Amino acid sequence: MSVNNSLKSEKKIIEQINLLRREKDALILAHFYQDAAIQDIADYVGDSLALAQWAAKTQNKMIVMCGVHFMGETAKILSPYKKVLIPDKEAGCSLADSCPADDFEAFINENPGHTVISYVNTTAAVKALTDIVVTSSNAKQIIDSLPEDTNIIFGPDKNLGSYINSVTGRKMLLWDGACHVHEQFSLKKILELKEEYPNAQILAHPECRKYILEVADHVGSTSSILKYATDSTLNEFIIATEWGIMHELKKQNPNKTFIAAPPEEEECVCNECSYMKLNTLKKLYLCLKNEEPEITVDENVRVKAVKSIERMLEISAQYGL
Ligand code: 13P
Ligand code: SF4
Repeated sequence: MSVNNSLKSEKKIIEQINLLRREKDALILAHFYQDAAIQDIADYVGDSLALAQWAAKTQNKMIVMCGVHFMGETAKILSPYKKVLIPDKEAGCSLADSCPADDFEAFINENPGHTVISYVNTTAAVKALTDIVVTSSNAKQIIDSLPEDTNIIFGPDKNLGSYINSVTGRKMLLWDGACHVHEQFSLKKILELKEEYPNAQILAHPECRKYILEVADHVGSTSSILKYATDSTLNEFIIATEWGIMHELKKQNPNKTFIAAPPEEEECVCNECSYMKLNTLKKLYLCLKNEEPEITVDENVRVKAVKSIERMLEISAQYGL
């Protein structure tokens, strides 16, 4: 297809999406890792905490979650009477996959007397085994809010868990899970970039490995990286997280330079979350039109899982997050 024709067809799809979202009273939510075109058409773009907060309070009849499956599940758990759609049901998460509920339950049973904290990147079944859910935006505050002598199990991200241990002084018991995208960043290449751009600051997501976090000037969630770069008086940043965040970084800071941290493998687009990128404008249009794929959660699982997410939202509100 020529560039002109493809632009025309994209324009048509956008028109159709705009008609359908009004007709069906649908709220379109998008994560920062979505393609630029999806971010631009969404009602709200945010990190996983913000997506959960919007899903919990929306008055719309329908929610379309342009993100990955656990984000859709979280929305459905919080808003069970709304129809929750996702453009591609195969949009999973390697971190959530690294923590099967049965194995996590066995781990909890082997370590009785622990408060169970789970990162939001988990299935509904894991959230149902959890006392409090956290995201990378609120994990530190939520863990700090617990009495100092609390024994804690933290799953599934060992990198976020060990980072939280280091900044809170806790000794949480960690599940051995990780994100395949954030584990790929090359320390050597990041340090080479730092030599090339000596004034650049390194901003890293806490899902990165410890040795990347140790050289970072700022460690935080996607929204925290965005805020840090936007508030900073500096102009150059090396960004160690999924590259989709570049769109909003550049949009809010057109005169600043953002360099994507390179992965170990030369030939690989490893700083792209292939799950996130399964969603496309066309699939968004089709899912609004056909009202599928729909996210469903077993009611027995939901009633257990909702408590751990609501606890997170309550503590976050206390901290103004
Ligand atoms: P945020 O909570 O920072 O949006 O991170 C979500 C995620 O999946 C990171 O890989
Ligand atoms: Fe999951 Fe990693 Fe993709 Fe985030 S970037 S959604 S943690 S696979």
